[in-house]
Amino acid sequence: MKISQVINCSFSSWYPAFHDISIPSLVIPLPNEFIEYLNSDGVALPDSAVHDSGGAGYDSDDTNQVPAFPEFETEIKDNIEKLGGKVFPKLNWSSPQDATWISFDKTLKCTCPCDLYLLLKSSDFITHDLTEPFTHCEDCGTQDPIKYELVLRKWIDIQPGMEFRCFVRDNNLIAISQRHHTQFYEFIGKESKDIVTDIKVFYEENIKGKFLDESFVFDVYRKEKGMVILLDFNPFGHVTDSQLYKWKELTAETIPDSSDGPTEPDQPSFRYVQTKDCIQPSPYAGFGMPIDFMDLATGQDPSKLMDFLSLVRYT
Ligand SMILES: Nc1ncnc2c1ncn2[C@@H]1O[C@H](COP(=O)(O)OP(=O)(O)OP(=O)(O)O)[C@@H](O)[C@H]1O
Ligand SMILES: [Mg+2]
Repeated sequence: MKISQVINCSFSSWYPAFHDISIPSLVIPLPNEFIEYLNSDGVALPDSAVHDSGGAGYDSDDTNQVPAFPEFETEIKDNIEKLGGKVFPKLNWSSPQDATWISFDKTLKCTCPCDLYLLLKSSDFITHDLTEPFTHCEDCGTQDPIKYELVLRKWIDIQPGMEFRCFVRDNNLIAISQRHHTQFYEFIGKESKDIVTDIKVFYEENIKGKFLDESFVFDVYRKEKGMVILLDFNPFGHVTDSQLYKWKELTAETIPDSSDGPTEPDQPSFRYVQTKDCIQPSPYAGFGMPIDFMDLATGQDPSKLMDFLSLVRYT
């Protein structure tokens, strides 16, 4: 994968050309001091943001040394208001999906700068955007400095079963996967033909030949029959979760089989979870756990296990 493929999927690269088929969104450049704050250790929040949250349960103390970002904060508030009072945040590529466990309602819904700071500051995915967005690129090391930005998207209550990830290779829509592939949604099997038709028509009318690469991945929300909305673009390669496919299948000569059997000619392959038996925990469930627990559970760090086993209980 090339750096240019990753850059083409950053929000400001694609949104201007596709805004009319996507969610209303506003972009604010990230001030350098704010990037430094996000990269610093700890999860302390600026006092100004805490006070402005209207006492929504956030704590601050007199020893708070976090810098204030008054202009940036005003811009965030104005844009939240313009987008209807509730927004979904992300940076150039990623949203802080691994940090939902820390928010009050366990979602990424933000109504004030404080909600936003807490999610961004607690997320490893955001740190990845800021520190190593091109690590998996074969030409890594040759890029210009990145202009980082905060993306605020109008909040919409999404029915997760209606989201799909679509794989395009050489300008052909080759495969579609249920987006939240650890869950079972009964209606998908019943509507599979209509889902494929709606997404294929949406791709051909709105996306084909208009994106900056010939191979890429796009995510959609099929709000209802015949109504599809574009959510995001991702690079065609291992950095993107291939969900119910393997990347090996998506890059092979033959189109992979669908959930219902061999894929019909000229149709994209379509995979979805077919039975309740295949339900798994959410891929983000582990992020709220202390890292030591995770290491113990997965055997990642044997020395931690040995320390744990040699613990003596004093009563
Ligand atoms: N405007 C929105 N309002 C509410 N929820 C949203 C909104 N946009 C996205 N989501 C939800 O958040 C999820 C992640 O969104 P998005 O794809 O933009 O993040 P991402 O970090 O790029 O994810 P990935 O790494 O999987 O590509 C979506 O699957 C959707 O369920
Ligand atoms: Mg994405």
